[in-house]
Amino acid sequence: MSNWMATAIAFSNIALIKYWGNYDSSLRIPSNSSISMNLDGLYSRTRVTFTTERDMDGFILNGLPVGDAALQRVHNLLDRVRQLAGVWMYAEVESRNNFPTGAGLASSASGFAALTLAASRAAGLELGESDLSRLARLSSGSACRSIPGGFVEWQAGEDDKSSYAFSIASPEHWELIDCIAIVSQAHKPISSFEGHVLADTSPLQPARVADANRRLEICRRAILERDFDALAQVVELDSNLMHAVIMTSTPLLQYWQPATLEVMRAVTDWRREGFPACYTIDAGPNVHVICLHSWANQIADRLSQISGVSEVLTAHPGGSAHIVSDVDAADF
Ligand code: PMV
Repeated sequence: MSNWMATAIAFSNIALIKYWGNYDSSLRIPSNSSISMNLDGLYSRTRVTFTTERDMDGFILNGLPVGDAALQRVHNLLDRVRQLAGVWMYAEVESRNNFPTGAGLASSASGFAALTLAASRAAGLELGESDLSRLARLSSGSACRSIPGGFVEWQAGEDDKSSYAFSIASPEHWELIDCIAIVSQAHKPISSFEGHVLADTSPLQPARVADANRRLEICRRAILERDFDALAQVVELDSNLMHAVIMTSTPLLQYWQPATLEVMRAVTDWRREGFPACYTIDAGPNVHVICLHSWANQIADRLSQISGVSEVLTAHPGGSAHIVSDVDAADF
């Protein structure tokens, strides 16, 4: 194994209080702070090898070479790492997601978190958690929340130094399960990357942002006190507010499919019947149904019976991004 190689794993995360829109796009300082839960079963594994044998960076995702905009984003991150480490070799990046890429399951979060950790370690850097989180943030905002473990808050901050994520509770703190109802595995037509730029065109965005700290506090307290009812209400409100902004942008966006709405309605009905479950949706059609551990089997079962739901994935709260050794080449 070369000295200039490292492999990292990072988990995807589901935002309970969403990040949508930037206060500073170039530094990716968000308009509001956000809270998420890492997802144990859904990860990216990424290997970075700096080598004198390359005359440009290369990126292989899920076994296929990637060019254009995705390669450019990888190259930009590698440039920041090279600059920090004083290393001037190009790199080969191999990455694999064990879940559908680009369908609202936060593949950019886990992918860029794993890439940040692997690239910095391969270049000989030993960065602390907040510095890794800041570096990941520059590539994909939500990636900064996949660096720490468990339940994570990204403080918006006001500049590059103050905008990073930290853990507010360990993965073991609360046995929540995310039952993800897959409605479509297709690549989303407009990435969240592009969506953030449109957020400020919605007349609803200032109201969403103005109320964000209140929602954040309710959510943080609900997690710390393991208060599911309080969590459920604020999580659904926050998701609906983000989608209201998305649907009223110019040009307007729309991520939902008919089955997305079916699941939302079903979850609301089930909660009325006494099931501890709530929905939240990122920038895609799939619905994350958060529930208490002891109800997860029943809820996953019910979700799989809804027409238009092709698969239900389940995930526990996940840990932090970490380095792994001895990964077989065949795994990439
Ligand atoms: O980090 P990005 O640019 O992929 O944006 C993430 C946006 C949402 O997933 C919709 C919300 C969030 O906070 O993760």
